[in-house]
Amino acid sequence: MDRIRITGGRPLEGNIQISGAKNAALPLMIASLLTEDMLILENVPHLADVVQLQRILNNHGVDVMLSGKRAGESDHAGQTVKISAANIVDTIAPYELVSKMRASFWVIAPLLARMGEAKVSLPGGCAIGTRPVDLLLMALERLGAKVDIDAGYAVAKAPAGGLRGGDIVFPKVTVGGTHVAIMAASLANGTTVIENAAQEPEVKDVADCLIKMGARISGAGTPRIEIEGVSRLGPARHSVLPDRIETGTYAMAVAMTGGDVTLEGARPELLQSALDVLSQVGADVTVSNTGIRVARNGGGLGPVDVTTEPFPGFPTDLQAQLMALMTKAKGTSRITETIFENRFMHVQELARLGARISLDGQEATIEGVDRLRGAPVMATDLRASVSLVIAALAAEGETIVNRVYHLDRGFERLEEKLNACGAMVERISA
Ligand code: EPZ
Repeated sequence: MDRIRITGGRPLEGNIQISGAKNAALPLMIASLLTEDMLILENVPHLADVVQLQRILNNHGVDVMLSGKRAGESDHAGQTVKISAANIVDTIAPYELVSKMRASFWVIAPLLARMGEAKVSLPGGCAIGTRPVDLLLMALERLGAKVDIDAGYAVAKAPAGGLRGGDIVFPKVTVGGTHVAIMAASLANGTTVIENAAQEPEVKDVADCLIKMGARISGAGTPRIEIEGVSRLGPARHSVLPDRIETGTYAMAVAMTGGDVTLEGARPELLQSALDVLSQVGADVTVSNTGIRVARNGGGLGPVDVTTEPFPGFPTDLQAQLMALMTKAKGTSRITETIFENRFMHVQELARLGARISLDGQEATIEGVDRLRGAPVMATDLRASVSLVIAALAAEGETIVNRVYHLDRGFERLEEKLNACGAMVERISA
């Protein structure tokens, strides 16, 4: 298993190209199942999760061609992925595949909408919480599907004439539930209205792509989405939006180490709440026409009181990174996690580096310390892992981060991007 060694204490200076968003690329690839025509996705990040989803789609008979960069594009351009689901040969998504990546459960929606049936393994829990799928199944039932749970699988069947439009009211905001509802409703008969929909930019990005494919969707990016079902969807070409979580992560790494970095291609409106928090703690954040520049030269970091919320609030996917940053603030910070019940696995690992954090239910209290010291630490999930990298970049001496595969799921060329800005990050292959 790969590890990475980080020698801390060096400010980050330079430019970092922001990659395409993992959490848009995955549902976009899944949306390819809705059409027999070619879907071409550009700016898809090179990530382990993308490769895993390729395997899952292959299992349904989908052709996924990764074509790399195009002539004239820089080495840092994302890949172009051509996907053809002309022939779906299997509507079963087995446990071995779905258990590796939760988002793969979302194939249930396009399979059901296009093929009239789907049998998909329940994804089970994961490191950050139980993560049920009841709301996703409720949405499909509202469109007329019959869903049974049988031997660990969700078995969904559409009525004889296909799914039909319906009203879906989510009792809590769910990104996956909203993706599933939009995809299924796009091929249903009649009109669907989704209330309390997730407003995350990735939901809007997927809806924009579906609209290019011929779907009739209005209101994506707001809490009320209306979909007029169509009988078939066609080909499209779509470029994945920039990754707001990667943007926020590097912004926090710069604030942590001091220095000055331009995050190229980053779009401020995708993470305004996080940028506001960064300004509040003492980073200089300026927006230019090429991206976002983050700097902290000289001044110390101040504490914050932040609660995670669905978009446009402060994202749960940046909670661990913010906590790492606050370990060196002058004063006491409070961070409350409201989205996932067990997303504090990084706390004990940050403590190995000298952080002082106490937990009370969903609330973490962080007493800033003057110095962190390098130590061996263990990555537990994607965002927790990168919070350890942020802390290690500002720690004295050497940190070894074990179980780096978590990072490879969601951060493209992490070592390369950080090292280009003066960090010392080295991968040790087992
Ligand atoms: C998406 O997960 C993201 N994953 C997560 O990113 C992100 O943390 C999360 O949204 C919240 O923003 C992808 O986009 C691939 P939810 P998702 O449904 O859709 C509860 C990362 O690190 N819930 O919005 O699975 C659920 O337990 C990942 O990139 C139900 O109760 O999240 C949670 O408390 C991690 N029943 C809340 O809703 C359901 O049926 C929000 O979850 C579904 C969800």
